[in-house]
Amino acid sequence: STDDRISRISSSIRVIADFPKPGILFQDITTLLLDPKAFKDTIDLFVERYKEQNINVVAGIEARGFIFGAPIALAIGAKFVPLRKPKKLPGEVISEEYSLEYGTDIMEMHVGAVQAGERALVVDDLIATGGTLSAAIRLLERVGVDVVECACVIELPELKGRNLLGDKPLFVLVS
Ligand code: PRP
Repeated sequence: STDDRISRISSSIRVIADFPKPGILFQDITTLLLDPKAFKDTIDLFVERYKEQNINVVAGIEARGFIFGAPIALAIGAKFVPLRKPKKLPGEVISEEYSLEYGTDIMEMHVGAVQAGERALVVDDLIATGGTLSAAIRLLERVGVDVVECACVIELPELKGRNLLGDKPLFVLVS
């Protein structure tokens, strides 16, 4: 059942205290990837949700959004577009700045990777403050893409990252 699959996925995620800094409880998805059934169930749950939604673009956020986004894109017949940290993409890029706890970061996408009017799903492993996903939404919407939904394996609900996404739907497997 769906609940059994979610339980297995949830149990396969390792929580590591004080990484990368004291006080942080790090959600480690590398242990999920070591369990082929949990990994397959993760992808299947997303594919079941998105396969009939005419999504043309799966935008995966560096780095762990690539791991989940690429197999989802293949399974639903969409193209995969990496949203990367600055200075990684070799072609002409469009950039979006966003706030971190201290300072700012930049997310980049290749110009021409997506077209106005296309329907996109944004994929990442985890939503914390929501700053990363909201930057991805802004980047895609600036070029006229319709962001249908955001999908994450894990949500940290106490950080209320959902609020930063406005009325954009967010689908998560584990809270
Ligand atoms: C983590 C995570 C998300 C982001 C979520 O990435 O994979 O992309 O933080 O945080 P937010 O909701 O507060 O914006 P990280 O910054 O660790 O980068 P990495 O995946 O490249 O290591």
